[in-house]
Amino acid sequence: MPMSALPTTSREWNLITRPQGWPTAHNFALREVVMPELAPGQVLVGNLYISVDPYMRGRMNNVESYVPPFQLDRPMDGGAVGVVIASRAKQLSVGEHVLHELGWREYALLDYQDATKVDPELAPLSAYLGVLGMTGLTAYAGLLRVAAFKEGDAVFVSGAAGAVGSQVGQIAKIKSASRVVGSAGSDEKVKVLLEEYGFDAAFNYKNGPVARQLKRAAPDGVDVYFDNVGGEHLEAAIASLHVRGRAAICGMIALYNAIESPAAPRNLVQVIGKRLRLEGLVVADHDDLKEQFVQDVGGWIREGRLRYRETIVEGIENSVDAFLGMLHGQNAGKMIVKLGDRW
Ligand SMILES: NC(=O)c1ccc[n+]([C@@H]2O[C@H](COP(=O)([O-])OP(=O)(O)OC[C@H]3O[C@@H](n4cnc5c(N)ncnc54)[C@H](OP(=O)(O)O)[C@@H]3O)[C@@H](O)[C@H]2O)c1
Repeated sequence: MPMSALPTTSREWNLITRPQGWPTAHNFALREVVMPELAPGQVLVGNLYISVDPYMRGRMNNVESYVPPFQLDRPMDGGAVGVVIASRAKQLSVGEHVLHELGWREYALLDYQDATKVDPELAPLSAYLGVLGMTGLTAYAGLLRVAAFKEGDAVFVSGAAGAVGSQVGQIAKIKSASRVVGSAGSDEKVKVLLEEYGFDAAFNYKNGPVARQLKRAAPDGVDVYFDNVGGEHLEAAIASLHVRGRAAICGMIALYNAIESPAAPRNLVQVIGKRLRLEGLVVADHDDLKEQFVQDVGGWIREGRLRYRETIVEGIENSVDAFLGMLHGQNAGKMIVKLGDRW
């Protein structure tokens, strides 16, 4: 794109009020801003795909956590993939594709060090936000390192039809789990788990108590639980885990919009007698596994052993709807916003 045609304005999503309970469209505003000039060492990136993720709900509360809260009336951020459309850094050229953290906007002005080159010939660009990106590494590191999965383990994963969960179940199968059980929020998703991802058993957690359904799906119990949901799911998993079982506590999406403290798990005392290990997981701690992860998962995809789905919503103006839709389970696999093929 010639310099004269560079955008002078960009649209970006701001959080304007902090949600109490479930967020609504009223908590957000899409604002047009004037783009500053590029400084030396900076690149201007036209975003092509932006990620909407459950952890962003936590950032909407004014609470310090392992990621800082979003500031009101400031652009939100998060994973994005785009193309360099102007550069004042010799390390990155116009036309190159990059992964970075200034999502939720059309154009991102970045220091070149904050952008990582990605190769569109190697994988579709959207995959760098999901199966080969943050959610994929979460599944890989969470199962293989945090939960210390080993061959022959029986595994239960909640949120199993989502980006992280669908990959956890399939990696467990590839690594010779004795049984892989998943839970998801619709009968249609359960069918996908069984028929597309090769789970041994699956259930719709909306069809009855989780503990009862898990007992039926894994009558002999499990060795590993990968928690994406918390609450009633965690309680059922604690009851199902064998002595010396391990749980990777990755997410608790059932609680993210709750106003009251959760009632479950009520059986935490079992952790003692069963010598369970429940370990929290933050994906950023596992960057050292990235290379191995991309090599393994890339290979499994090429061999047709690992499948993935994406739900793509088009248009920057639909980003909040995509985010809210993901919280409500409208996604199959990774929820991603596509900003169009503008370059
Ligand atoms: N610790 C980390 O570093 C890290 C990194 C990435 C992700 N995570 C966590 O991993 C989990 C999955 O993330 P993801 O990106 O893969 O999202 P995802 O599973 O692709 O999407 C979220 C899914 O959560 C399910 N859900 C929503 N409310 C629920 C509820 N009350 N009970 C049960 N399921 C519910 C919905 O599916 P259904 O239709 O099945 O309800 C929805 O599709 C989240 O908890 C997230 O916070 C943690």
